[in-house]
Formats: sequence, C-alpha cells, structure tokens
Amino acid sequence: MISRSTIDNVFETARVEEVIGEFVQLKKSGSNFKGLSPFSDERTPSFMVSPVKQIWKDFSTGKGGNAVSFLMEHEHYSYPEAIRYLAKKYNIEIDETEQSDEQKQQADERESMFLVSEFARDYFHKILLEDNQGKAIGLSYFKERGYTEDTIKKFQLGYSLNEWEAFTSEAINKGYNLKYLESTGLTIVKQDLLSATGTKQFDRFKGRVMFPIHSMSGRVLGFGGRILTNDKKAAKYLNSPDSDIYHKSNILYGIHYAKKAIAKEDNCYLVEGYTDVISFHQAGVENVVSSSGTALTENQIRLINRLTKNVTILFDGDAAGIRASIRGIDLILEQGLNVKVILFPDGDDPDSFSKKVSSEELKEYLQSNAQDFINFKVSLLMEEAQNDPVKKAGLIRDIVVSISKIPDRIQREVYIQECSRIMDISENVLFSELAQLDKKEGREASKRPHQERPLAPVLEKTAQFEKVNELTKYEQEIIKILLLYGNNEVEFENFDEVEEVDGNEAKPLKKEYQLNIVSKEIYLNLQEDEVEFTDERFKQIYYEIIHQLNQDKSIFVDSFINHSDADISNLVTNILMDDEKHTMSNWERKNIIIKSKEKDLPKMVLDAIYNLRRVLIEQKITSLSVEIANTNDREQILETVVNYTNLKHRICERLNRVI
Ligand code: CTP
Ligand code: MN
Repeated sequence: MISRSTIDNVFETARVEEVIGEFVQLKKSGSNFKGLSPFSDERTPSFMVSPVKQIWKDFSTGKGGNAVSFLMEHEHYSYPEAIRYLAKKYNIEIDETEQSDEQKQQADERESMFLVSEFARDYFHKILLEDNQGKAIGLSYFKERGYTEDTIKKFQLGYSLNEWEAFTSEAINKGYNLKYLESTGLTIVKQDLLSATGTKQFDRFKGRVMFPIHSMSGRVLGFGGRILTNDKKAAKYLNSPDSDIYHKSNILYGIHYAKKAIAKEDNCYLVEGYTDVISFHQAGVENVVSSSGTALTENQIRLINRLTKNVTILFDGDAAGIRASIRGIDLILEQGLNVKVILFPDGDDPDSFSKKVSSEELKEYLQSNAQDFINFKVSLLMEEAQNDPVKKAGLIRDIVVSISKIPDRIQREVYIQECSRIMDISENVLFSELAQLDKKEGREASKRPHQERPLAPVLEKTAQFEKVNELTKYEQEIIKILLLYGNNEVEFENFDEVEEVDGNEAKPLKKEYQLNIVSKEIYLNLQEDEVEFTDERFKQIYYEIIHQLNQDKSIFVDSFINHSDADISNLVTNILMDDEKHTMSNWERKNIIIKSKEKDLPKMVLDAIYNLRRVLIEQKITSLSVEIANTNDREQILETVVNYTNLKHRICERLNRVI
C-alpha cells in the first residue's frame, strides 16, 4: 500500500490545472480556467478548473472532483494508479507501507514479471521491424493483412524468431532472471538429464507473430502469438498461460486502446479476437474490445461497466456460433448493462467486413444494424419454434429468464410488453412467469454474497440538485457557507429580545453588532435549537467540520475535497463549483466577475439559519396538525401549535429584518 504521507504529499504538490492541462486545452478566465469538456462532444466550453479551490467541474456531464478523480474519470485509472501517476509526474518518491515481507516480495515478483514482459514486447517489436527474418516473415504477413505501419506500431505488434531460444538467450544476456521468464510463460523450462544444468529451455512463441495484451492502464500482461505456417497440428493462436499478472478471465484485449472511446461513445463493441479489434481501430472505430475467443466473464463485464452501460456484441454470420453465445449474454444483462447485437453477412467476421468497406460504410453498418438483444433473441427463437407449441413454451420461459436478469424494473416491463406483441402471448402470462422466477431468484440472491456497491456518480446533475426538498436546500446552504467562509470573521447583528410583556411581540431593544467567526456563529445557533441535519451526508460533513473546529480552530476544505469517501468529495466539489456555473455563460465577457459576496456574509449566514429553522418549524406544525385529528388531547397539542406558529412569525420577521 502507498503510505498516507506519500498520498498527502501528492495531494499537496499536484496542481489540478497542470494535471488537467495535459489532457484538455485550458484558457484562463477570471480566476478560473475553462475548456471544452473531454467527456462530451461540445462546441462551447462547459468544463471549468478552479486553481484556487483545486477542483474541476464538467457542467455538461455533471462530473467533477480533484486531480485524482480527474485521472480516474479521464484515464480510467484506479485510485492507486492515479496516485502513482501523479507521484511520477511530480517526482515524489513513493513510500510503501503496511506490507509484510511476503507481500513485499510478491509485489517485487509481479513487478519483475511486468518488466520481463515489457522487455519481450520491445524485443519482439524490434525484431519485426528491423531483423531480416522478422521483416521477411512477420512484417510482410501483417502488411498482407492490410495493417499499416501506424497500426503495427500502435499495437506494438511483434515477431518471435523461428529459433529455439533466440528470445530467452537475449533476455538472459540483458540480465533478466530465468525465473520470471518462466513464470510469465515466455520461456518453457523442461527437465533434461543430458544437459549440464539438468534442464533445457526454449521460447514458447517460436516462429509466431506477437500481439501484446495490455491492462487497462497499458502495462503488458501477456501475449497472443499467431502461427504463420499451415501446420495442422499446431494451434493457430497460442496465449500466455495464466500467471500472477495475467488472468485471462479478468482482461479484455484492446481495453487500454479503447477505454476513452468507449466512455465517449458510451458504447462498447465486443468482437471475437485480436484481428477484429485491430482492424476496427484501423477503420476508425476505437470503442472495441475482445474477450479472446471465450465467453465473457463477470470480471470482464465489470471492466466494461466502469466505462459504459452499453455493450454491442458483433456476431459473424454463422448461426451455430450465435446460438452458442446467446446464453452467456444473460450474464451481461444481470450486471445491468444494455445489450445490442449486430450480425455480419454470411462468411464475414468483423475483421474481414471492415476491410471490404470504407470507414464510413462500416460506421453506417454498425449504426443501422444494431438490434436490441432481447428482441433479437425472441425473433431468432420464434423462427425456430414456428408451429411447434412445445418449443414455443420453452422459448417463452427462456426469454422470461433473460428478462428477469435485468435489474431495472421499468426496463423489464417494457420488454414484457414488447415480447408479448412479438410472440403473440398475453402480458399477464409473461408477468406471472416473471414473478415466479423473481421469487426463486430472491431466495437465491439472499444466499449470494453482497454485491459491490456501485460507485456513486462523480457528481449529481445540477438539475437534480434543484429538485431536493427545501430542508436539504438550506442544509446545503449552511454547509456551503461553512466550507467557503467558515473561517471568516464578520460582524453579526445581535438581537437582544425583551421578554414578551402584555402579549406584545418581542422586539429588539437596539441594534448591536458583534464580531464572530462564521463557523462559530452557525454552530452556536444550531446548537441552541438542537438542530440536526436530516441529510446523512451533510450530517457527516457537519460533524467533521465541528471536529476540526474543536481540534484546530479552523476548517480545512481540502480535507473534504480529497475525502476518502467519494460521495463526500463529490458532493463538496459540487457545492463549491455551484457558484461558478453562471460564469460559464460569460465566456467572452470574462471580465465581468461577480463581486465578492463577503459583504453580504452576515445576512447570508443568518438567512440560512433562520430559513432552516423556519422549515423545521413548518414541518413540526404539519405533523402536529395530523396528530390533532387522531387524538383526544386536542387542547394541549393546539397550544403547542400556537407556540410554534408564534415562533415561526418571529423568525420570519427576523428574516425580513436582516436585509
Ligand atoms: N482466435 C483465437 N484462437 C484460435 C482462433 C482464433 O484466439 N485458435 C481469435 C483470435 O484472436 C483471432 C480471432 O479469434 O483474431 C479470429 O479468428 P480467425 O479469423 O480464425 O483468426 P485470423 O488470424 O483472422 O485467421 P484467418 O486469417 O484464417 O482469418
Ligand atoms: Mn479471420
């Protein structure tokens, strides 16, 4: 694990505008930077970076956060990957902690395996481009396939010489340990009693063209190697064996090259293998991955799920293959993804099809031939079940099973309606079948381990923000004031009330002003009325603020922006950037900067507190009115209502008065 002090150091050093500046063109605008959103295709900038607050916000998608969350969103790094990236960028030494010796050794071993794999990638690539045999056999093969030089370089394709241990000897000469050559599967080590060492070793991928397989962040995990001869006995494709760094079922070929396009297009094409992925890229379709010939696993679906909710599976025209894959698709539905399918004409796979047509024609074909998976499945199976009632009954059950995997209830209902139409069977029958499955599923689900909680969206959309009820609105306002101005010291009007005499309303004697810290004023006011926040997240932020005040007499906004709870840091970023929203429209007239709000601070603080109290009292009165209807003790409750109503009047008066 990366030590806390390293993480703190990274957060202190990294400048959000510098980090984002490497990916987005930013223009200075007032105290902020603005640019085009990297998460959508827009022409007018709605992406904003605040160097002062060290946060960013994308008003077009609602995303936002700090430097680390930008890297996680944009580069799809994991948290540790983002920290490591920043540490490297700012030359910060990474201090690893809490690792046992065993863990440390394991980490070292994995790192050694990565290094060997990266050496192998570079070696095979160089052989392909520079060695005579490499050029004559490997490079000419790729050229024949229609791959351009750019494509070959982009995918770091290579060639492994047709010799027993050309690669292994070179690696050992360069100082790489045979142990890691063996554990990555690049070298096969066998017992050989005749040799001096008792073993013999040879290159696994001898005489094959090489496809490096990358992790999401671009490290080399393993290889696929394609044979070039017509040897019927040897496998056409050979893959690295599973190892500590390569888990076939956890990775998708091409994900590193596709991740940005998948997020941007909000769709992922799923194809069969290496050649389909590469050909699509060359044709300009980059949101494509392959599961290397096997059915998708749950972990692979999760990888896609980090980037998009939409998967489109591409089938070549062979019907047997389609039927075999259909079952696996329920697994994708189960994870809440929307599945579409595209069929290619008989005899064509994505690779061959993409080469027959222009880039535009390919895109057009993908656009207009995508069909919804459930509809596709119904139509396909209906064709087979025609005039066969028994088959049809089986099919209906089959379809309902697929539909039952969809977590979203509204979506399910839409499907039921549609299937009822296509299959000519009543909705009721389908619904009751579904209900039975749900019951069964419910029993099984309780046995399953808890599903991982999905990551909260980085930021809520501002529109949703406005829909929250009045109470949360004022709770948010108070939190916002605390975060922005909590440490300021200002003069507050002091109301010295006279006790009610002869039924007269209480009135302030004279206006008095008192200097106070904003956070303290808020704390005292809320404490006096025993006000608790209703929104759990605001409650937590408030308690942490109070804790900071008790300990350090000051609020540290950074600790919330960089909060370990993503929900909290997102919410805080959202609150802090909310004010900047209207400045987005002043892109051209950027000198119009809204005057500092600090002059109105005392009024802002008191307004928020009184409004919160007013809403709380209104809620109390409403609930008491309900109680009156169901009780014998009306007098008592009525009196309470009157008291609360008076209190509300006084608060409203103050609200008007502190103008
Ligand atoms: N594939 C594989 N293992 C095999 C066969 C195929 O992993 N034994 C995968 C490869 O990733 C390949 C994809 O499936 O890219 C398509 O298969 P295929 O068309 O047979 O491979 P190509 O290399 O395109 O062969 P050909 O030139 O004969 O079309
Ligand atoms: Mn092929």
